[in-house]
Amino acid sequence: MDTQGISDALRGKTYFIRTFGCQMNLHDSERVSGLLDSLGCSLVGDPADADIVIFMTCCVREAADQRLYGQCNSCKSLPTAPSGKRVIAVGGCIAQRDGEGLLTNVDNVDVIFGTHAIAHVGELIAQAFEDSERHILTAEDESLAALTMPWHREYSYHAWVPIMTGCNNFCSYCIVPYVRGREKSRSIEEVVDEVTGLVRAGVREVTLLGQNVNSFGRDRYGAPRFAELLRKVGETGVERIRFTSSHPKDLLPETIDAMAEVPAVMPHLHLAVQSGSTRILKLMNRKYSREDYLSLVDAVRERIPDIALTTDIIVGFPGETEDDFAETLSLAEAVGYSQAFTFIYSRRQGTPAAEMPDDTPREVIQDRFDRLVKVIEDTAFAFNQHELHQVVPVLVEGTSKKDSSVLQGKSPKNQTVHAPLPEGARIDDLVGKIIDVRVDRARTWYLSGSVVGAAR
Ligand code: SAM
Ligand code: SF4
Ligand code: F3S
Repeated sequence: MDTQGISDALRGKTYFIRTFGCQMNLHDSERVSGLLDSLGCSLVGDPADADIVIFMTCCVREAADQRLYGQCNSCKSLPTAPSGKRVIAVGGCIAQRDGEGLLTNVDNVDVIFGTHAIAHVGELIAQAFEDSERHILTAEDESLAALTMPWHREYSYHAWVPIMTGCNNFCSYCIVPYVRGREKSRSIEEVVDEVTGLVRAGVREVTLLGQNVNSFGRDRYGAPRFAELLRKVGETGVERIRFTSSHPKDLLPETIDAMAEVPAVMPHLHLAVQSGSTRILKLMNRKYSREDYLSLVDAVRERIPDIALTTDIIVGFPGETEDDFAETLSLAEAVGYSQAFTFIYSRRQGTPAAEMPDDTPREVIQDRFDRLVKVIEDTAFAFNQHELHQVVPVLVEGTSKKDSSVLQGKSPKNQTVHAPLPEGARIDDLVGKIIDVRVDRARTWYLSGSVVGAAR
């Protein structure tokens, strides 16, 4: 189908998109939306009002599969679509993993597009409207092509900027390299040009995305160039730079230097540890030891003393003993994380860990998980106390969910901050602005205080 045919088939259609999984999927959804918008479609907030329903899926843990089947089945009871016909499309990592196999679990999906096929989604959906056939594309070749597509950003002041796709690390528990393919980096010029354009459009904060940003450039230039990228992005005038994820085995001293020296790089580092036990880290194929990780944390803190460190931790990896777990707890305490994403190990078919003996009872794992959550709450609470009585610049995101007279935003260290809206101020005028807040209360998951000075 040619471009004219695609836009003829799609012009005036409405679409609904629901995203599961990580920021990479969120960004892919922004590209899908951007493409559909450019073809004359419009976004709606309710699947009942949509001619096109899209699910962007994740398979990093098991629960997601059942949730997708439920979502697809619930589309059967929707009222007739505004145009008289509804196309259901499934994208993202489950689509890439299962392809046509998805149809054994759901029978009302018209389009299945893999993680490398985003640039073709308009054509696939247009064809489904024309011929009522199923259209499936999961070939692995074009993951970077989607990154030059139009783009529908969720926020005016913040942008997710993928700098690479895929992953080469094959951590033994993880499905991501199988569904996202190998690492492919964009060029430094392309990323810098994109951020420059975003700054011109009013964006104040960018988050550079990759499964392991420290490896950025290795495939393209023969050696990683993430430190250089940070410095060049710092020269675009963007006010806040964040990045995720950062694999400890590849975090170079030159990157820590760039983080310390580029003023726009925020004092926050997400450094996934996964386990505090060297024995388990080896089974996980993480390629660093507990001691390596702790030395890295020391090196980072030496250059950026008050940096906020966050992490990902898996509890109940096959064969994890109470002693291994005790090492995870003690490492979390030693690092003093300001936040952590904690996960119970989920067996993923096709990964090496799925073949490892795994006989720890579920209750034991749940008990470990609960103890870890408690330790993280304690370290987060302790970390936030450092901010008491300080003035922190807050990038305003909106109002608190519980109270619309309280503004909510993020500190440089990525802490959530609340403050009553100043007299006479309207939240719509403040979203995307930076405002100083003097902190007078530091809780586990947020800081609160009062606004001092004007928004900028
Ligand atoms: N590339 C990122 C990194 O290494 O930091 C992580 C990306 S992954 C989407 C996010 C997190 O999911 C991982 O850091 C890990 O903690 C968790 N995860 C991945 N596979 C898992 C599994 N099979 N079971 C439980 N958690 C898992
Ligand atoms: Fe998964 Fe490891 Fe790659 Fe992260 S680095 S996406 S955990 S394989
Ligand atoms: Fe999930 Fe795929 Fe991201 S499996 S976590 S959406 S890369």
